[in-house]
Amino acid sequence: MAKSLDGVLTKKAHTKERFTEEQVRDLLMCSDPVEGYLYFVKNFFNIQHPTKGKIRFEPYEYQIGLLHSYNDHRFNVNMMPRQSGKTTCAAGYLLWYAMFHPDQTILVAAHKYTGAQEIMQRIRYGYELCPDYVRCGVVSYNKGSIEFDNGSRIVSQTTTGTTGRGMSISLLYCDEFAFVQPNIAEEFWTSISPTLATGGKAIITSTPNSDEDTFATIWKESQHKFDEYGDTIENDVGINGFFGYRSNWDDHPDRDDAWKQAEMGRIGEERFRREYGCEFLVYDETLINSIKLSELLGRDPVEKMGQVRWYRKPSGNNLYLVSLDPSLGTGGDYAAIQVFELPSMIQCAEWQHNITPIQGQIKILRDILNYIQEQLGVESSNNIYWSIENNTVGEAGLVVIKDMGEETFPGLFVSEPIRKGHVRKFRKGFNTTYSTKVSACARLKFLIESDRIKINSRPLISELKGFIAAGTTFKAKEGLHDDLVSALLLLVRMSVILADWDPRVTEVLSSRDLYEEDIEPPLPIFVSTNL
Ligand SMILES: Nc1ncnc2c1ncn2[C@@H]1O[C@H](COP(=O)(O)OP(=O)(O)OP(=O)(O)O)[C@@H](O)[C@H]1O
Ligand SMILES: [Mg+2]
Repeated sequence: MAKSLDGVLTKKAHTKERFTEEQVRDLLMCSDPVEGYLYFVKNFFNIQHPTKGKIRFEPYEYQIGLLHSYNDHRFNVNMMPRQSGKTTCAAGYLLWYAMFHPDQTILVAAHKYTGAQEIMQRIRYGYELCPDYVRCGVVSYNKGSIEFDNGSRIVSQTTTGTTGRGMSISLLYCDEFAFVQPNIAEEFWTSISPTLATGGKAIITSTPNSDEDTFATIWKESQHKFDEYGDTIENDVGINGFFGYRSNWDDHPDRDDAWKQAEMGRIGEERFRREYGCEFLVYDETLINSIKLSELLGRDPVEKMGQVRWYRKPSGNNLYLVSLDPSLGTGGDYAAIQVFELPSMIQCAEWQHNITPIQGQIKILRDILNYIQEQLGVESSNNIYWSIENNTVGEAGLVVIKDMGEETFPGLFVSEPIRKGHVRKFRKGFNTTYSTKVSACARLKFLIESDRIKINSRPLISELKGFIAAGTTFKAKEGLHDDLVSALLLLVRMSVILADWDPRVTEVLSSRDLYEEDIEPPLPIFVSTNL
C-alpha cells in the first residue's frame, strides 16, 4: 500500500499481485455483472455510522432495492426520504462500478460544493478501508477526483449549466437534484442529455421540492408507464426511459410512529411531509404556504383569444377588475394582465407576453375591456374597473392611454389616492414601492390561503410556487418570472381601494379582512380624465 499526498492509504497503481484461491473467488463474485455490487458492498464496503463509527455496510431491504434499480436500469430516478442512506448507497455502487468496469468516466454532480465533496469523501472512506486484493490501484487521488489504474475515474462537480460539458460520461450521478436552481437544472439537463444518449447511464436522486422543477418532471414521466397506445412500456420504465424508485420513511428499520411523532414535533408537519413523506411541497420560503400551493390545481382555459387565456366568460351583473403590469416588451420581463370577477373572486382571464411593446400592451388591455363590455351589454361600464402600474415603463403606458383617449376604454380607470402630506405630483394608476408591495403580498397571501379568491391559471400557480422571500420582500426565484403575480398584486391593491368606494366590492372583501394590518385609510378614488 502507498501513502497518497493526503496521508491516506491507497493502493499503488499497476501493482503485481498474487491471490489466494479464496481471494480469487471473492474477486469473481465482485466482478459478477448481475449481482457483483451487492457482494462487494456487503463484504468490502465500510461506512461511518453516526453513533457506531466504522461499520461494514449492511444495506436495508429498500437499499437493496435501490442498488438493484441502479444496476438493472440505464436511467434511474429515485425519490427517497431524508437520511435514508441515499448517498451511502450511491458511494458504494459508484466505487464498485468504477473498480469493476474498466475505462469508465463517472460524474458526480451535487447542487453544492459541499454535497459533491461529501459523496467523494464517502467513496474515499470506502476505498481506503477496502482490502488491497479487491481494489484497484490509483493513478491519482484528489478531493474532487479519483483515477483508477483500470482506466476508470470518478469526478465530482457542483451542478451548473456547464457541468460535464465536453466529457464523455459513462455514468452520471446527480444528488439532491430538486435543489439545484431551476434554470441551472434545466440548462444542465439540456446540455448533459446528448452525452447520455450515446450510451451513458444516469442516476438522479433527491428528496422532492417543487412539483414543477426538472426533477419533478423526470420523476413524473418515470411514473407514466404507458405508451400512446395504452400498452405498458417494457421493464416498467416511464415514457422518458427512466425507472423511478422510491422508499417510504417507515421502510427504515429504526423509524416507527413514535419516531414520526417526535420528528414531526421537532421539524413541523410541513417539513416532515416534504422531507420524509416525499410530497412535492416547495422547500423555499414561498409567500403562499407550500401545502396550500400543492392544493392549487388550475384548469385549462375555456377559450383563447390571441395570447389571452379565458377561464370564464364575463356574464351577468358581475363586477370585473382588470390590472396591467407593463414591461418594456423587449424580450426580458413579461407584461401581464389579470382579470377577476366579483363577487365570486374567480380568475376569469390572463395575458402575458414579453415582446409586445407598451402600445400593444395597452391595446390588449382595451381589447379585454371591450370584450367584457360586449359580453355584459352596453350598460356595463359601471361594472368594470381597470388600472395599470405606473412605475417606469408604466409612465409611457399613461401617455399611450391619453393618446388613445381614456374615454375609449370601457369601465373606470382606478387610481391610487394621494396620501395626506404627500406633495408628489398625482399620477394615474398605481405606483409600486417596497411598502405597497409588501402589504399587497400580505393581503394576497391571506386571500389565497383563506380560499377567498380562486385561481384558475396554471402559469400563475407556477409563478406562485417560485415566488419566495428575498430579504424583507418577495420576488421570483432566480431564473423564474413573477409578472403574473405582480399583475395580481396590483389587482389586490385595486380591490382595497375599491372596497372603500364601491359597496359591491366592500361586501365581498369586508374591510376587516383587508385591513387587518395597520395601513393608512385611502382617500376616495380619482376618476378625473386629466392625466
Ligand atoms: N444500511 C445502513 N446501516 C447503518 N447505517 C446506515 C445505513 N445506510 C446509511 N447509514 C447511515 O445513515 C446516515 C445517513 O446516510 P446518508 O447520508 O447516506 O443518507 P442520505 O439519504 O444521503 O441523507 P441526506 O438526506 O441527509 O442526504 C449515515 O450516517 C450513514 O452512515
Ligand atoms: Mg445525501
